[in-house]
Amino acid sequence: MNAPLDTYNNPYIPMMAEIELVEALTERESLFRVILPEPLNHRPGQFVMAGLPGIGECAISISSGPDSGRILEMVIRKAGNVTGVLHQLNKKDLIGIRGPFGSGFNLNDFRLSTGNEDIVIIAGGLGLVPLRSLIIPMMENKSEYGTVHLIIGSRTPKEALFRSQIKQWKQLQDCNIIELVDDADFQEWDGEVGLVTEPIHRLILDEKKTQLVLCGPPVMYKFVLMEIKMNFNIPDEQIYVDLERRMRCGLGKCGHCQINHVYCCKEGPVFRYSQLADLPEALT
Ligand SMILES: Cc1cc2nc3c(=O)[nH]c(=O)nc-3n(C[C@H](O)[C@H](O)[C@H](O)COP(=O)(O)OP(=O)(O)OC[C@H]3O[C@@H](n4cnc5c(N)ncnc54)[C@H](O)[C@@H]3O)c2cc1C
Ligand code: FES
Repeated sequence: MNAPLDTYNNPYIPMMAEIELVEALTERESLFRVILPEPLNHRPGQFVMAGLPGIGECAISISSGPDSGRILEMVIRKAGNVTGVLHQLNKKDLIGIRGPFGSGFNLNDFRLSTGNEDIVIIAGGLGLVPLRSLIIPMMENKSEYGTVHLIIGSRTPKEALFRSQIKQWKQLQDCNIIELVDDADFQEWDGEVGLVTEPIHRLILDEKKTQLVLCGPPVMYKFVLMEIKMNFNIPDEQIYVDLERRMRCGLGKCGHCQINHVYCCKEGPVFRYSQLADLPEALT
């Protein structure tokens, strides 16, 4: 007789988590807060596969901080088949979660105690969702980190995410937050209008002691990196990019996320820029 499957130790079998809250953040994106049967113990920047039996699953970034225990927060954009069904779920419904997957960030790389003075985090659109899992522990333990410069861009005010939480972060010491929209479109907006590249030259950084993190739509990386290189001499090992590729297994087995010899689901989605030197197609 076969031994029973050990549900929580088999990476292909999802844990079923109960939805505690579904909150529409924009027309297309909702925040899902779920209660897991056991903590994920994730690192910032990791992702899960979220889905339902008989429907399918898709890669979704973990947006809650690493100390969130059995609580997991995700922001899901209604994009197609699986995300469309997930958007029909309500409080108390169950959702399947596998993970955490991927490399993620090591918080020690950012701490003052490791010689860092400045942290620059640039998020475009949905890119703020995974980076929130990195920003939360920095804001909760602010004295352990240097100056945090956050540049957050959205297309319009209606699409700007987590504005009330960002307002709270603005009150913290050594926290420089610049929010922008491409187009205010006559809507009420108290931030700046322009692209995330525009404020970069205004930053005052100790460049050898700066860690830079980027996450956003593919086109953003090229222009942000050009602007950074024009203005600062930040070593490539201190620049992190969070890349999205189509994913299926999350385990380095199916090849869906492969760029040359690199499996994004295992070695990424967070990469140091220096790791991508021989992978030019990674940023296209
Ligand atoms: C590491 C990682 C983290 C992610 N984090 C989030 C997140 O936090 N929130 C969120 O809403 N989405 C996230 N995504 C994207 C999400 O996985 C896709 O939107 C989802 O797979 C779409 O599934 P679907 O069945 O609803 O859509 P489908 O019916 O499969 O497709 C709908 C449309 O989305 C396109 N699409 C599918 N997958 C991707 C992809 N990976 N990148 C770009 N376009 C895609 C398809 O080509 C199609 O045009 C992440 C993806 C990765 C790889
Ligand atoms: S998603 Fe299957 S190998 Fe990466």
